[in-house]
Amino acid sequence: YIPAKPTKDDFLSCLNRDIPARLLHARSSPSYGSVLASTIRNLKFLSSKTVNPLYIVTPTDVPHIQAAVVCGRRHGVRIRVRSGGHDYEGLSYRSESPEPFFIVDMSKMRSVRVDGKARTAWVESGAQLGELYYAISKVSPGLAFPAGVCPTIGVGGHFSGGGFGMLLRKFGVAADNVIDATLVDANGKLHDKKSMGEDHFWAIRGGGGESFGIVVAWQVKLLPVPPTVTVFQIPKTLNEGAVDLVTKWQELAPALPEDLMIRVMAQGQRAMFEALFLGTCSALLPLMSSRFPELGMNRSHCNEMSWVQSIAFIHLGKNAGVKDILNRTSSIRAFGKYKSDYVFRPIPKGVWQNIYGSWLSKPGAGVMIMDPYGATISAPDESATPFPHRKGVLYNIQYVTFWFGDGIPSLAPTSWIRDMYAFMEPHVSKNPRQAYVNYRDLDLGVNQVAAGGNVSCYKTGKAWGERYFKDNFDRLARTKAKVDPTDYFRNEQSIPPLIA
Ligand code: FDA
Repeated sequence: YIPAKPTKDDFLSCLNRDIPARLLHARSSPSYGSVLASTIRNLKFLSSKTVNPLYIVTPTDVPHIQAAVVCGRRHGVRIRVRSGGHDYEGLSYRSESPEPFFIVDMSKMRSVRVDGKARTAWVESGAQLGELYYAISKVSPGLAFPAGVCPTIGVGGHFSGGGFGMLLRKFGVAADNVIDATLVDANGKLHDKKSMGEDHFWAIRGGGGESFGIVVAWQVKLLPVPPTVTVFQIPKTLNEGAVDLVTKWQELAPALPEDLMIRVMAQGQRAMFEALFLGTCSALLPLMSSRFPELGMNRSHCNEMSWVQSIAFIHLGKNAGVKDILNRTSSIRAFGKYKSDYVFRPIPKGVWQNIYGSWLSKPGAGVMIMDPYGATISAPDESATPFPHRKGVLYNIQYVTFWFGDGIPSLAPTSWIRDMYAFMEPHVSKNPRQAYVNYRDLDLGVNQVAAGGNVSCYKTGKAWGERYFKDNFDRLARTKAKVDPTDYFRNEQSIPPLIA
């Protein structure tokens, strides 16, 4: 009798069976630190206090992802998926609790295939938005895709939560324009739209990242843009009437023609009016002088360019070239805290005076970035996708505060953003006070696992979940129960399963 050679069956051996060693980074490997840090945007989480993964897997092919899921489940090691790493709370690469987990980092899976004739593209989750925009413009300069402003954002997390930028009034959110997707589910099975089924395909288009499996690639609809678009950036100080202009902008901007998006950044003692118009300066001028003459926009403010150039111009400045949107390290890395709100009724002028007079001039004060809705983003029914912020929304506010330093949490910016958010409560949406899931904010609540249970609690989840998804939260939770009843794909704000 020759005893069988014991086969090592731990988590690492399981991964090693199907994933080449060069794609596996253990804490002891020299590559671990640089791979982990490669897409961390919020320096708060690049700290010795952060709970880091045991391993990072950087798949180059679908079977690697399938093997990672199967091994993780078999050995009880939780998984986090990371595409561009821009999550404001770092949920794609860190855990709040000291549980063992590993990362599937999609950064090596970032191909973009554009079909100009069919006006569609397949884009892998690890691509950054800049890579998608660039590839579209190379094949079809007359086509575009409506997604975020910052070119380093990852497609995977961004589309999962909705995703909007300067084309939101013309074409809605990115998720509205997804027509198919491939995904690895909690059993390691690969699906497309048809095999995943209606609820599952609905859930991944706006229901937030992580909860429903690993989206490998997305097929998107490309949309027509004219050869020339016009960008303007007009700063106005308080002395130049910023308060009156912002007060008027609130109702004006959501009612403008869909080809014109004017957003506002309120910071310090000024408001920056930044616009993208799908057309020439000559077509924009009469529109501005009839609808918003107080802004004083004239020909000297016009910057005419192609749509893809506007991406570089708006995010990276007027000297940036189109190729700069391919740079994967171009966005600032800082310590940051972010929150969001939705406004349905214009905020009175007196409140704006207070916002500028007291709040934006405090030590540690950040920025309010306000994106007007209306037109296409507001047209779908609230339940058409999990992204529910539609009819009646005047604009979205993103409160941004960031700071540089030596890693010591800075009190002034963090208390500013919390106090500012409390001050804004009477002026923004209520029951629930809505928030945008891509502007992740753990202050809204985190999942809990009930004593003796092993899945996230539905009731606790509902408290934060309704703020991101309104009534869509229940359908998301029922879908979660169908596709991942054991709650394997879990993080602090993943959708809990609603088990009947
Ligand atoms: P990351 O990789 O961190 O993932 C975010 C979440 O999605 C995590 O929970 C993660 O597990 C999950 N996930 C990632 N890949 C997945 C996959 N393949 N399958 C399933 N789940 C996956 N938003 C916006 O709408 N408009 C904008 O203009 C901007 N601008 C902006 C600028 C900057 C500098 C930052 C840091 C962020 C923004 N955002 C934004 C917010 C951004 O849309 C949001 O953080 C996205 O979730 C980022 O997607 P990433 O893939 O980069 O993040």
